[in-house]
Amino acid sequence: MLSKPPGIEDIFPDRIGTRNRILEAAREQFRRYNFREIVIPVMEFTEVFVRGIGGETDIVTKEMFTFEDRGGRSLTLRPEGTAPVVRAYVENGEYNRLATCKLFYLGPMFRAERPQKGRLRQFNQFGAELFGSGDPYHDYEVIAMMDAIAKDAGINGYTLLVNSIGCSACRPDFVKALTAYYRGMKNLLCRDCAGRLEKNPLRLLDCKQESCQPLKKDSPKITSFLCPACKSHHDAVKKYLSGSAIAFTEDHLLVRGLDYYTRTTFEFVTAKLGGQNAFAAGGRYDNLVAEFGGKPTPAVGFAAGIERMELLVEGAVADEKGPDAYLVHTGGPALDRAVALCRELREAGFSADMDPADRGFKAQFKKADRENALLAIVIGEDELAAGTCTVKDLKSGDQEPVAAGGMLNYIKNKLGK
Ligand code: HAM
Repeated sequence: MLSKPPGIEDIFPDRIGTRNRILEAAREQFRRYNFREIVIPVMEFTEVFVRGIGGETDIVTKEMFTFEDRGGRSLTLRPEGTAPVVRAYVENGEYNRLATCKLFYLGPMFRAERPQKGRLRQFNQFGAELFGSGDPYHDYEVIAMMDAIAKDAGINGYTLLVNSIGCSACRPDFVKALTAYYRGMKNLLCRDCAGRLEKNPLRLLDCKQESCQPLKKDSPKITSFLCPACKSHHDAVKKYLSGSAIAFTEDHLLVRGLDYYTRTTFEFVTAKLGGQNAFAAGGRYDNLVAEFGGKPTPAVGFAAGIERMELLVEGAVADEKGPDAYLVHTGGPALDRAVALCRELREAGFSADMDPADRGFKAQFKKADRENALLAIVIGEDELAAGTCTVKDLKSGDQEPVAAGGMLNYIKNKLGK
């Protein structure tokens, strides 16, 4: 038997009801907030992610599916959507001339992480990116949009964490203070953090190792280092959130695992996911468009993990419905009638199914039940002779003969369609 690679899932119909609820909630809020869909490629030149996410990040150094194409170019399966959307935005002259451009995307992302509950190697995100506004109102807007999606999808009891990691003017002073603080305890750091101290000290705050947690307690707080412009931006985001009753917790350790962020960072977290506590996250990235060769354009966005959200949706989601009708026949001329009626039902907008093989009534009724059909429509010798069908309601068990010519009207009335 062939099997799938680790961390990669097949998603069968029993999960589709919950996933559709999440995706419908997302699409509906994207519509309300005036975001429009962009479809980005599944692979990019590796450079897009190295430059976009940062050469020293875990994603780029350890987690990318990178390969050479036949022309010897390095390609990577997208580990996230922001860098590709920025690349597309800069490359496309039409959209980057808009004053503000609001885009959303859906689809699979790939990261070679160690698989566990809620952590996959192929997972699906929906995400939104807003270009052309540095206004804190728009930081609030993307956060409020994600909050509404989570609630509409049936997810409750989560915490919104918010932080600011400053800008290129104020962050260097913070990084200096942070480096000095951690240098004093270098021998206590885990191996990864020893490397981070040299290459990317901000990420020290993001370490998940148990032994590094107590060291964070007295670390300098970025919010005490913010320049006046970053501070007033941060205050304004918080004011907008409070003003619309979106509860949040300030978390000065929230630096995120991608290097493109400036000012606002945020995460939607819950204790219900074990180690993988965030189900959606994002922030502002005012320098990335220029980094990709575009004219300096502020931007802000987020992405959510659909499989993590699936684990959090509360309340029963109705199973995918079965067909409206399942046709049961005795073969020969009855099969011809069943084929014709099945086609007519489908053309009239009903879902209908049947098995062309002559398997006997019992087996066909069993199949109708297994398919969760609402009605069984029986065409046997008696029905052929009388010019009728017998319609059986599979929920109540009631059945009655219906004249073949009046079938569509009967079903319309019966199913209220
Ligand atoms: P991220 O925090 O790397 O941010 O991923 C966002 C979400 O994707 C996570 O909160 C999680 O729900 C889901 N996710 C990430 N990795 C995995 C995995 N291995 N298995 C399952 N789910 C996963 C970004 O991707 C940024 N592009 C967000 C952003 C958009 N920032 C600005 N704009």
